[in-house]
Amino acid sequence: MSLPTHNDSPVLAVIGGTGLYALPGIGNLERVRVDTPFGDPSDDLVMGSIYGRRVCFLARHGESHSILPHRINYRANIWALHHVGVRRIVGVNAVGGMRGDMGPRSVVVPDQLIDYTHGRADSFSDVEGAAVNHVDFSSPYTDSLRRELLASALDCGQTLISEGVYGATQGPRLETVAEIVRMRRDGCDLVGMTGMPEAVLAREMDLAYASLCIVANWAAGCGPEGEPPAAEISVEEIHAHLAVATARIPPLLGRLVSRMGMD
Ligand code: HPA
Repeated sequence: MSLPTHNDSPVLAVIGGTGLYALPGIGNLERVRVDTPFGDPSDDLVMGSIYGRRVCFLARHGESHSILPHRINYRANIWALHHVGVRRIVGVNAVGGMRGDMGPRSVVVPDQLIDYTHGRADSFSDVEGAAVNHVDFSSPYTDSLRRELLASALDCGQTLISEGVYGATQGPRLETVAEIVRMRRDGCDLVGMTGMPEAVLAREMDLAYASLCIVANWAAGCGPEGEPPAAEISVEEIHAHLAVATARIPPLLGRLVSRMGMD
């Protein structure tokens, strides 16, 4: 592949999660396969344009959703995006909601996370001969990009929840009620399987990174205030909520892109 010059570097990359396997509204599509020192990314990068600005899309689980959360090659994905000139990433993540105001179909821009995953390749410095890198991760999401997302939502009349703590679990199973009680006690508001190590790898590469969390279901044992929680989580319901809420994402990201590229 030919590397982009500075001017055609994408202003934004979107990593789509469950329910978002392409970005509607993106034109001039070109698929780019990137070989990385860490193996294959989840799929081809899809380069295109929105409002005349270059953007890049990657389906985190692959376009046919064939890759389990703990099997995603997060290092290859982030390395490939960096390689084509990406400097800002919005990760779209399906999550379960724990907080009363974070019911199905709400969309949250988290500001903190707690990592409960294990055994995932979570550092670029974890290779023979690489320098040890104790990257600062006090604020795991890039505040300027979070603020741009929130401003874009205001611009297009969408309500986003502007903060929350994302708990990253190993999956692929959903959690027990006791696990969610513990996570709640720890301070988590949302639970998902793909937020880490994506966020820290972006930080290691010095890329701006923010997450748009789409609430697909109440987390195990949670429910609307004053109502008994569901006895179990229905996968059909998850997909139905995701289908509705995900429709909000392309106009929101379009607005975000239209605010970019001026710098
Ligand atoms: N738990 C973990 N990951 C998820 C959930 C959940 O309840 N819903 C969507 N992704």
